Amino acid sequence: MKKIAVLASGSGSNFQALAVAAQSGILKAEISLLVCDKPGAFAVDRAEMLGIPALVISPKGYPSKAAYEEEILQKLISLDIDMIVLAGYMRLIGPTLLNSYEGKIINIHPSLLPAFPGKDAIGQALAAGVDTTGVTIHYVDEGMDTGPIIASAAVRVAAGETRESLQKKIQRIEHSLYPEVLEELLNGKEEAVKWEKSVH
Ligand code: GAR
Repeated sequence: MKKIAVLASGSGSNFQALAVAAQSGILKAEISLLVCDKPGAFAVDRAEMLGIPALVISPKGYPSKAAYEEEILQKLISLDIDMIVLAGYMRLIGPTLLNSYEGKIINIHPSLLPAFPGKDAIGQALAAGVDTTGVTIHYVDEGMDTGPIIASAAVRVAAGETRESLQKKIQRIEHSLYPEVLEELLNGKEEAVKWEKSVH
């Protein structure tokens, strides 16, 4: 079975959705490790509740990004990790991890990329007044949310939508789409998963 490391910085709800899917057999992979760059983040509590080992590691303790990522890389290698899944990991991935896991790092982003990359994609969509936004899953490259798109799902922005209500809608989609797409990828169906879903 393939071994996955999830990288998260915040609440970890996508990490939990992936872990639950794996534990229930919907996702035929092992979520072997959580890597969290924010000590105290709720993702770490979720890992404990789920019985998944966590590497909590702050970049502040390292002289460079390369040194920080090297520490993560050694942990991934020691656990034979096959793939890295970013779930609300709010940092660019550097060459140390990119070169070792080329084509094996994916990310989920709460907009229809290339629209609204970077931070606060939901706030950006609301400020722009769009009537449709969504979720994108993509391969990670050296840019900010710029890698090749694997799958996306549209989410309608209703009249009077608030940040909270829109975030709730988007996260509900994320929690089902991410395990589903990861399962397809692990089965070698990269081409098959280039689909779009419409949600109203
Ligand atoms: C998710 O909505 C994810 O799409 C977003 O952060 C949230 C993390 O929530 N990621 C980005 O904005 C990446 N640019 P979670 O910690 O509850 O999974």
